[in-house]
Amino acid sequence: MLKGKRIILGVSGGIAAYKAIELLRLLTKAGAEVHVIMTRAAQEFVTPLTFQTLSGNPVHTELFNLIAEREIGHISLADRADLFIIAPATANVIGKIAGGIADDMLTTTVMATKAPVLIAPAMNVNMFTNPIYRENEEKLRRLDYRFVPPVSGSLACGWEGEGKLAPPETIFEEAVAALSPKDLAGRTIMVTAGPTREEIDPVRYISNHSSGKMGYALARSAARRGARVILVSGPTSLSPPSGVELLHVTSACEMRDVVMARAVECHAIIKSAAVADYRPVDRNADKIKKNSERASVELIRNPDILGGLGRMDKRPYLVGFAAETAMVSEYAAKKLSEKNLDMIVANDDSQPDAGFNVDTNRALLIFRDGRSEACSLMSKDDLAGRILDHIAAELASR
Ligand code: CTP
Repeated sequence: MLKGKRIILGVSGGIAAYKAIELLRLLTKAGAEVHVIMTRAAQEFVTPLTFQTLSGNPVHTELFNLIAEREIGHISLADRADLFIIAPATANVIGKIAGGIADDMLTTTVMATKAPVLIAPAMNVNMFTNPIYRENEEKLRRLDYRFVPPVSGSLACGWEGEGKLAPPETIFEEAVAALSPKDLAGRTIMVTAGPTREEIDPVRYISNHSSGKMGYALARSAARRGARVILVSGPTSLSPPSGVELLHVTSACEMRDVVMARAVECHAIIKSAAVADYRPVDRNADKIKKNSERASVELIRNPDILGGLGRMDKRPYLVGFAAETAMVSEYAAKKLSEKNLDMIVANDDSQPDAGFNVDTNRALLIFRDGRSEACSLMSKDDLAGRILDHIAAELASR
């Protein structure tokens, strides 16, 4: 995801410096080349050796270190960066940057960079609300510095309130967003995800094994690329992607109501939800007792939500999913034409590494004009990127 990206991670002095280790791990795991700069105060909390070991690169601590300057000086470090993150950023460091002070390796390199700068503050709540700090933050925001706001909680200094460093996962997400192309800016994209549940009685339901991972990856990726995202989700155990409007639904009928109500706002709709095809004719008000040896539940067809979207007068760009176990491309192409879609993502569910409940997928993208594109085994995040590449290109050409 961040393959080939060069990131400078500036760590300033605060107890939250240890959380920068987790952030570094997330960045390197995603493929980024990370160069760490630590202030003198940061080294009181965590040793440079920890960051050096985990980044695989020398840690920069001194502005006037002759060896480090010869190998990769602060200017070339600043020049080569795709993104500069400061986490945690103290009130002091933020004040210095806002005031144009460059008196150590971190502040000098920030001043010399043309890369986007992402600042994740961490400080005492009274410092955070201090008008001097507020003014510094506002000034930097006006100058296009991005902030990952701190969260509320009990602070290391004993106070309760805002000032705790944002979780490393949130800072990571903002970093990925900062480095993503904004080719979906101005577009509204609806994604449906997860299974639906069709209740039999108050304690039982019919559902399927969908985890929602593919839909959540699509929603996350579209938001990173600048889209306004409406995520309509059946029950899942996933944490909501940041920056999306998440609407929870349970049954297929509820999903249909929400999707149809919001469809007119959308430039594209991606229906990755595994909608239950049938629901019980009647939902028992009370729990059904086991009074007989055999039991049966009469089922009735659920509305075809995607089919309904395909019949809209001015329909958005429509993407469906087809989970097949045989004759994958034939069945998927038939669904594409029957439901009047623009693209269908066909999964071979007979494969253990594709489809439901796994992190990877192998798919065949089939388009309305008969073209197709085979996607080899890849992460659901990468597949989401491929699907969105097509949507972005198509929307741009309209
Ligand atoms: N879909 C929908 N509403 C339904 C059922 C499915 O919107 N009631 C959508 C799914 O979100 C998916 C696509 O339609 O994008 C799947 O097509 P469908 O023909 O319903 O697939 P299957 O349920 O797998 O069909 P079959 O069981 O006939 O293979």
